[in-house]
This record gives sequence, structure tokens and C-alpha cells, in this order.
Amino acid sequence: MRILVLGSGAREHAIVKALLREGGHEIVAAPGNAGIAAEVETVALNPADPDVVADYAVDKAIDLVVIGPEAPLVAGVADALRPRGIPVFGPGRAAAAIEGSKAFAKRVMESAGVPTGAAVRAGTLAEAEAALDSIGAPYVVKADGLAAGKGVLVTPDREAALAHAAFWLQHGEVLVEEFLSGPEVSFFVLSDGANVVPLGAAQDFKRIGDGDTGPNTGGMGAYSPVPWLPAGFEEEVVERIALPTVRRLAAEQTPFIGVLFCGLVLTEAGVRVIEFNARFGDPETQVLLARLASPLSELLLAAATGRLSSVPRPAFVDDVAITVVLASEGYPEAPVTGRALTGLDAARDVSIAHAATARTPDGGTVATGGRVLSVVATAPDFAEARARAYAALEAIGLEGGQYRRDIAERVS
Ligand code: AMP
Ligand code: GLY
Repeated sequence: MRILVLGSGAREHAIVKALLREGGHEIVAAPGNAGIAAEVETVALNPADPDVVADYAVDKAIDLVVIGPEAPLVAGVADALRPRGIPVFGPGRAAAAIEGSKAFAKRVMESAGVPTGAAVRAGTLAEAEAALDSIGAPYVVKADGLAAGKGVLVTPDREAALAHAAFWLQHGEVLVEEFLSGPEVSFFVLSDGANVVPLGAAQDFKRIGDGDTGPNTGGMGAYSPVPWLPAGFEEEVVERIALPTVRRLAAEQTPFIGVLFCGLVLTEAGVRVIEFNARFGDPETQVLLARLASPLSELLLAAATGRLSSVPRPAFVDDVAITVVLASEGYPEAPVTGRALTGLDAARDVSIAHAATARTPDGGTVATGGRVLSVVATAPDFAEARARAYAALEAIGLEGGQYRRDIAERVS
């Protein structure tokens, strides 16, 4: 197949690597990064411009478009491709609102009977205040729309919760939510709009610092599988969360085609959805796909063409996978960019997924953003996977570079 992968992060590099493992495909990434460009053709088009992507895909007779990040989904890239007959893995703009609008996601969950925390929508400060008092502390206040990771505040402080609500009310509605307490896990299912196929769970490490300290980031590491999940967890998530959500979206004429990323909390009262995303997680994808033994292209194409019920269940290797993200100095607030990366070739026994990297004219590689790369290691157990990943990180040089030392440390 001729496959076009949209995006430029480590998630997209992991997707490209999984497709390359199958062999026999022609793969193009747009725009990609230095690591992706070292493995496949890249093209400098704007992945979030629906017409540009659709014209390119038609012109090059692309057989499958795989949308990595959220921006192209929200921009309607899938909506531009489908009428032109190009199979596309990724929901249209309306279904992608399951990620882009927390109020929409809550409404879908409530009408589908999906377990989630109680929530109240507020359009004014008075409504927000009443909601905070009716739901109680600790307070959870969320901006309705996309907020670049800054929309959610969890606090015991009523004044801080009100100030957060006041700020985000300038941009639209806010949601006041019940506080959910328990371990979090990311769970992924493929959907063709009607059927779902589970891809499994991964644990993400969202804070910048060891021991879950410091500011939130896009994700500093991950591991999969998640051995501490209760028996029957996967079936429960499929039956009680993923399928009802997909069916509800179909009933509303906004079928969800792509990967439904379920952000879950295991509370004492049972599993609850904290959020949905309409795309693969980063860095979770790096560990999920590192273990995938089935051809990824078959699964993505089946999802894109409404045939998920006819493909075999995906198989995974027995090895576990971990990934550790190397970030630039100053990330997440103000990453320092332009610094040289060294030692990439010396890293053994791991796979390196590039995120924010570029080639220099003299053949070197520089960091161009916050999360620079993702070191992925697989092994029979987590201790060995950790040893491999961290040995590789010691070989890689980036002035001021930061990475967590405790990824998958407490799992065995
Ligand atoms: P979100 O952007 O919805 O994923 O929220 C970001 C983070 O805030 C989550 O990963 C949780 O750690 C935390 N969070 C969000 N909603 C809640 C909630 N209802 N209760 C407790 N923590 C939450
Ligand atoms: N790692 C969380 C995300 O991709 O949103």
C-alpha cells in the first residue's frame, strides 16, 4: 500500500516503524522529522490543511491516510478525504469533538450510560460558583475547549478554582467535575464506526519530575502492558465504555473511525472515564506498537473501511515495553531549542522514536522542541527493559536534556 502518515512526533515515528516492520509498503510522512526522514520519504505539506492533504493524497494515489495528531482531525482533514474516496484512519471533525469539547464528551457519556464523574456545565461565574458548592472539594474545573494542556485545574482551594473558572469563561463554557481518586491508565480501542477492537492499556507518566512531581507535560514515559489491572478489565472497558460510546456517536450521525483513547481512573467504586482523546497517545503509542505482532496496516485499513469485524484480533508479543522521553532544558515552560544531539548511533538494544528533531547541513541532528525523542525498549521483564532504555539514554548527549529516572520502576 501507499500510506501517508500525518504528523511529526515520536507517535508518528512509532507508527512509521510499525508499518516498516511489515515490509512492502510505500510510506510517506508529512511533515515528519529528522528521524522519520532517515527511514521514509517525507513531504513538507501542512498536515492540518484539508484541501492540501486531500489534493496530495488523490494526486499520489494514496491507499490509506493515517492521522496522528489532533489538529488535522479538528481541522476536518478526514472529512475532506472521505468524499474523495481515500480511506482515512481518524475521525471527522464532529466525532473528534469527543476530545476537543469536554462538554460534548460528557453529554455523549451521559446519554450512553458510560461511567464517568458527575459534572456541571457553567457559562457564567455565578453558575460556576454554584456548581463548585454543589459538587464540593477537591475542586476540578475544566475549560470546555482545547487549552493546550492548561485547561484543567484540580485544587482544594475554592478561590483558585473560581479564578480558573473566571479565566476560562472568557473563552467559552467551563465544566465543574467530581474529583475522581485512584490510579490512572490509558486504554486504546480501534473503531470502524460500529465495531471496536481493543489494543490494550498503557501507563503514562505526565509530570516532568520523578515521583510525579512538577508541572504536567505531554507525557514523559510509558509502559505496557499494565500488569496490575484487575482481571476482566479489558472486557469491562470494551463493554461498558468503548462500545456504548462508539454506538452513541454512530446514532448521532457522527461515526467514530480511528482510535478512541480512553483516559481512565480506577476508583474504589469502579472504573471511570476522565477524558477521551480521538487519536493515539504520545508516548503510549510507542509502547503499544512496540509489542504489536499483527500487521498494523491491516488493522488501520479495516478501521478506515468499516471492516474491523472481519480482521483477526491483534496479537502482541510476550515481551514488555517501556519508553522514556528525552526533553529539552526548560520543558515544559520554555524549552531551549537548537542544541546538538549526540550518541544516537551508540544507543544499542533500543528503538529511538524522534519527536522534535531536525538535520543540520553538516549531517548532525538538533533538538527543535520540548519533547525531543522517545527511547523504546522491549524485554522479557520491566527490570531488563528499564536497564536497556536507561543505558541508551546515558549514551545520548543533549546539553541540559532532562528525563525521568523512575519510568516503570514500581511495576514488575
Ligand atoms: P484531562 O485534560 O481531562 O486529561 O485532565 C488532566 C489531568 O487532570 C488528568 O490526567 C487527571 O490527572 C486530572 N484530572 C482531570 N479530571 C479529574 C477529575 N475529575 N478528578 C481528578 N483528577 C482529574
Ligand atoms: N500521553 C497523553 C496524550 O497523548 O494525550
